[in-house]
Amino acid sequence: MVACGCKCETTEQAQLIEQLDRIIDEYRGQPRGLIQVLHKAQELVGYCPKWVQVRVAEGLGVSLQEVYGVVTFYALFSLIPKGRHKISVCAGTACYVKGTKMVVKAIRQHLGIKPGQTTEDSRFSLETVRCIGACGLAPAMIIGKDVHGRLEPEQIPEILEQYQ
Ligand code: FES
Repeated sequence: MVACGCKCETTEQAQLIEQLDRIIDEYRGQPRGLIQVLHKAQELVGYCPKWVQVRVAEGLGVSLQEVYGVVTFYALFSLIPKGRHKISVCAGTACYVKGTKMVVKAIRQHLGIKPGQTTEDSRFSLETVRCIGACGLAPAMIIGKDVHGRLEPEQIPEILEQYQ
């Protein structure tokens, strides 16, 4: 076990560190272990803050730069906390032509966040993505596992209110 490098004091954080250490122990020495550990760490913590990166680097015996390089290279990793509900607005060609910008604007007006941000209450995070495979429903977005299509800006508040 390595020493905790952060200023954590709460029981919850201590439990997260304990669980993270178990994940690190499980994958230490395995090929692609770093990516596996970061993936599990993100599932556990919700994102990959610096204290997680430091812990993983020390635990696996790799440099912090290497960990940071992986976290910033792959889109699936996040350096910022994500909301409970991830909104992915499609910015593929079909959706873009039919109104991605209007959809993003409506979400921005309702929630006060831009793509790449999370609401202060951690309820939603917003991102734009490439084609989500629902071009016939353009413009479309996914919230969690739900696809919402043929979107009109006026529908956005009602749709978002379904997610608490
Ligand atoms: S372009 Fe948006 S679903 Fe395909």
